[in-house]
Amino acid sequence: MSKGLDDVVVGTSEVSWVGGTTGDLVYRGFDVRSIVPGVPYESVVHLLLFGEPPARDPSPEVVLALQSARSPSPSVERLVDALPPGLPPLEALRTILSSLGDGSFGYPPTREEGFRLIAQAPVLLARFVRNSQGKRPVPARRELSHAANYLWMLTGEEPPVPRVRALEGYLCLLADHGMNASTFALRVALSTQSDLASAATAALATLKGPLHGGAPSRVSDMLDAVAAPENAERWVEERLARHERLFGFGHRAYKTEDPRGLVLHRIARSVADPRRFELAEAVERAALAGLHRTRPDARLFTNVEYYSAVVLEAVGLPRTLFTPTFAVARTAGWTAHALEQAADNRLIRPEVEYVGPAKGRTWPRPITTP
Ligand code: ACO
Repeated sequence: MSKGLDDVVVGTSEVSWVGGTTGDLVYRGFDVRSIVPGVPYESVVHLLLFGEPPARDPSPEVVLALQSARSPSPSVERLVDALPPGLPPLEALRTILSSLGDGSFGYPPTREEGFRLIAQAPVLLARFVRNSQGKRPVPARRELSHAANYLWMLTGEEPPVPRVRALEGYLCLLADHGMNASTFALRVALSTQSDLASAATAALATLKGPLHGGAPSRVSDMLDAVAAPENAERWVEERLARHERLFGFGHRAYKTEDPRGLVLHRIARSVADPRRFELAEAVERAALAGLHRTRPDARLFTNVEYYSAVVLEAVGLPRTLFTPTFAVARTAGWTAHALEQAADNRLIRPEVEYVGPAKGRTWPRPITTP
């Protein structure tokens, strides 16, 4: 038995490799640090879904596929318009992904369905956000990239180039990550011959929790609570003394630095408010010192969520959109894994060790048969 399935290998995958001891993340043979920042999200989608890099950047095939798939059906739009404005965007996105599964997604999943998922998730999420602000939805523009369109549809303002670049880097880095919890949930659902929209809904439900994708808004809350670099050490010590977790640190797979965190650190330096960045670095230093002193055996390092928070803040997104934006990035990886699962499927159905009462108990009252 392996509680939490630590180190259990459940299959093979050609999509991405997570080198937990070496600090590597590789998409189909490409080290993410060698392609991000720089390669557009559309080309990363191409790499993940087709297995090879496109002939040109951004991938013409993916640009066209996303443009053609970007218009949701009127019935899904009506459903999004009926969502209560006070709903947190993450809960709204869960309903959105579910509503995409209107019977038009089948089994086995197709790349075309994947493009609908990748293209429409941000369109419908932005529609919900605009509705909840009492504003009119902003249609996507053909000439804008996926990253630029996301900001454009949310704000209705021309997105500044540095913000688009930072978001693009973030989307590329978060596009896939081996057999993480949400991808595993997606593959379990898919393995029953369910469809991609249903499996993505299961994946989003899994991404929501703070031990997976729900951490970055808590990182921002943590930085607010520390408030100034000189408070960092005391704040961290008090928190660790209460045996509370520090968000943005530790990882099931990485027992060294998370390569995505290193790239996001650089992106954050280039785009964040210098005072916020200085605070983040001070808290990181204090956290790593505190964790290494109190838990040297646990090998805890900064994870992807820490500088994700600083980058997403700098891009202008509210905290309630941090995890939904993670999901928007991950639709690419989810699709690649769904296609791979269906291509060589076996129902994923593990065992559990039963530790309840032994067989042989008798019901406390006489049982009358009808
Ligand atoms: N702060 C304080 N202590 C920690 C932290 C942390 N961030 N992370 C782990 N520890 C401690 C645990 O309390 C545990 O101690 P214990 O054995 O005394 O209980 C020990 O280190 C080992 O931790 P585990 O929980 O066994 O490690 P696991 O692999 O299960 O957890 C996880 C990984 C969930 C990410 C954990 O490090 C954590 O909770 N981090 C904070 C939340 C976070 O940043 N989540 C985002 C993860 S990144 C992602 O999924 C995209």
